Formats: sequence, structure tokens, C-alpha cells
Amino acid sequence: MSDNHNSAGGVPTTGHVWDDDLADLTNQPPKWWMLGLTASAIWVVVYFLMYPAIPFAVNGTFFKGIGLPGTGKWTAIKELAEDQKVLDDVRSKYENKLKGMTPAAILADKELSEYVIRSGKVLFGDNCAACHGQNGIGTIDKHGLFAPVLNDDDWLYGGTIDNIHETIAGGRQGMMTPHKDSLKPEQIDAVAKYVKALSEGKGDSEQAGKKVFMESDCTACHGPDARGMQAMGSANLTDRIWRFDGSPEGIKRTVTDGVNAGPDSRIAVMPSFKTAGKLSDTEIKKLAVYVYKFGGGVKDDVPAAAPAAR
Ligand code: HEC
Ligand code: HEC
Repeated sequence: MSDNHNSAGGVPTTGHVWDDDLADLTNQPPKWWMLGLTASAIWVVVYFLMYPAIPFAVNGTFFKGIGLPGTGKWTAIKELAEDQKVLDDVRSKYENKLKGMTPAAILADKELSEYVIRSGKVLFGDNCAACHGQNGIGTIDKHGLFAPVLNDDDWLYGGTIDNIHETIAGGRQGMMTPHKDSLKPEQIDAVAKYVKALSEGKGDSEQAGKKVFMESDCTACHGPDARGMQAMGSANLTDRIWRFDGSPEGIKRTVTDGVNAGPDSRIAVMPSFKTAGKLSDTEIKKLAVYVYKFGGGVKDDVPAAAPAAR
């Protein structure tokens, strides 16, 4: 053992030696470190007193902390409310703008429409998805579509931003009269076959049914070309998109009993979200933009484009 083991540069060692050559000096830790240690020990006590940190019930209640100077006792609810306020401040900047804007103007503003789509998702989930399905994919019951698909470009009532806004605000009820009294069963049979053939692009193969279609009241609502009129939501009968059951039997039933026209008829009611006060004006605008942005929205200033050349 050399002297080295008992001191180094005048500092005594602890006397322990490892590996024949290594010894611990008895230096004090640096002053800054000692201060830090003392401060954190004091902080533990202060923290315990300020916050509700003692998890034992005394007299049936917990120690709530003495609170922070100036802000009172800390609670998780209070902290949530403060965070919420920060969020509301950010939102109110947008919300105030939305109040004075038309749905079309919101749609034209990139930043606002992005904001609106984010909050629209929640509104849609809460108010619309039960009938229209998540993301507007439609819901089906045994009669066919219970509520229409909203993420395609086939619209009963029109797909411009104003059409969609009007639908949500005012609601819609498809009115098709029943024909069980005005047409004979053979005529209904024939016209149903015609409509089915029409949807497959072979309308001319059903001349008897075509005659019924042209001579009864069908054209008054669906138009002579059977493409429907968006002003009254009469379905386009020339495509393969069916609002109700599109089988020959299903079509016969729609023609016989009508829509929203009595106990036997098909029910198709889109509730109004404005009159019932279910949603605010701003919420309805948000939803119009949200639904439009599913991808099927139709620009109103552009005339229907000619099909692209393929
Ligand atoms: C109780 C079920 C129900 C709820 C809830 C509902 N809808 Fe509808 N919606 C319908 C039905 C049914 C129709 C079709 C009406 C018809 O066939 O005439 C419809 C039609 C529509 C249309 C028109 C589609 C077209 O082709 O023109 C839009 C747009 C629409 N709904 C949006 C919404 C939005 C947005 C909400 C939520 C705020 C909503 N709906 C909530 C049942 C519902
Ligand atoms: C008073 C107007 C009116 C008359 C008349 C009328 N329809 Fe309709 N029809 C409608 C409306 C509106 C709808 C859409 C109902 C809905 O979706 O809410 C419809 C829907 C239909 C459907 C269902 C389409 C689908 O996609 O499922 C068929 C089929 C149909 N009509 C055939 C006829 C035939 C055939 C006649 C003549 C015998 C006729 N309609 C007469 C208004 C009318």
C-alpha cells in the first residue's frame, strides 16, 4: 500500500481500495449540487401542501391542498376548463366568421372549409350517421336503401352546396302518389317492367309499359325522359341506382303504394334540422360543406359537363 491510498493531493480517501489501485476520495459534492438537493427536498414538501397529493381520507374527505397563491385550489376540472377556454379562443376566431357567411362562401375559403370539415365529422356522426351511415355510405333495410348514399354524385334533391344546405335545414319528404286506384294490376306490371328495362338501357323493349308510363301521370313528376326532377326529388329512373328495392316486385310495390302516401307506402323522410331547432344555423352550414366534400358535391356555376372523351 502506498500513501496514495490514504490521500491524494491532500484529500483523504475513504480507505477502500479496489483493483489494488483505485480509491474513493472524501471530497464534498459541489455546492450547486447540494443546494439542488436541498431545494428539491423542500419542493416535495411544498408540492404536497399545495396540491391534493395525500391519498388518505381524513374525516371522510381528502386533503385538497392549500392551493397556489392567487389561483386557489387546483382541481382537474378547473384545469380542463382552462384548457377548454384556450381551445374556444382559437375556435371562436373561426366560429365568428362562419356566422356571417353563406355555405358557398365557406366552401370557397380553403382554411375555413378545412376547419369546418373537422368539426363536421363529429356533427355528422352524432346527427346523421344513424340513418346515412358513417361517411354517408347509406344504410340498408329490407326495402332497399333506408337513407340514401351521400358520398356519390347521384342526388334526389340536387347536389349543389345550396341544395344540400336546403335539404338539411328544411328536411325532405319524397311524395309519390300510389297508383293502386288509377292503374290496373296489368298496367302496373307492365310499367314496372318498363322502368326496370329502362334502368338497363333497354326501355324500348317494353312498349306496353312505355305506353302506360307516357299516358299516365308518371311523366308529370319523373319527366318524359324519366330522369326525374330535383325540385321535387323524383328519382332518376334511367340509372341503376335504386332508392328503394329495384327488383321488378320492388318497383311494382313503389308504383302501387307510392312513397309517404299512406300506411302501406314506402316511408322516406329526411327530418328538418332547422325547424326543430336540433342544430344551429352554423352547424347546418358546416354539415352542408361536410356532405358536399364527401366528393359528390356539384358546382353550381359550371353547367353540367359533357362526359369526358375516353
Ligand atoms: C331519420 C333518418 C335520417 C336522419 C337522422 C338524417 N337523414 Fe338525411 N335523409 C333521410 C332520408 C330517408 C332521405 C331521403 C328522402 C327521400 O327519399 O325523399 C334523406 C336525404 C338526405 C339528403 C338528400 C340526398 C339526395 O340524394 O338529394 C341529404 C343531403 C341528407 N339527407 C343529409 C343529411 C344530414 C347532413 C343529416 C344530419 C344532419 C341527415 N341527413 C340526417 C334520412 C335521414
Ligand atoms: C306526384 C309525383 C309522382 C308521380 C305521379 C310518380 N312518381 Fe315515381 N316518384 C316520385 C318521387 C318524388 C320519387 C322519389 C321518392 C323518394 O325517394 O323519396 C319517386 C320514386 C319512384 C320510384 C323509385 C325509384 C328508386 O330509385 O327506387 C319508381 C320506380 C317510380 N317512382 C316510378 C313511377 C312510375 C312508374 C310512375 C307512374 C305510374 C310514377 N313513379 C309516378 C314522384 C312521382
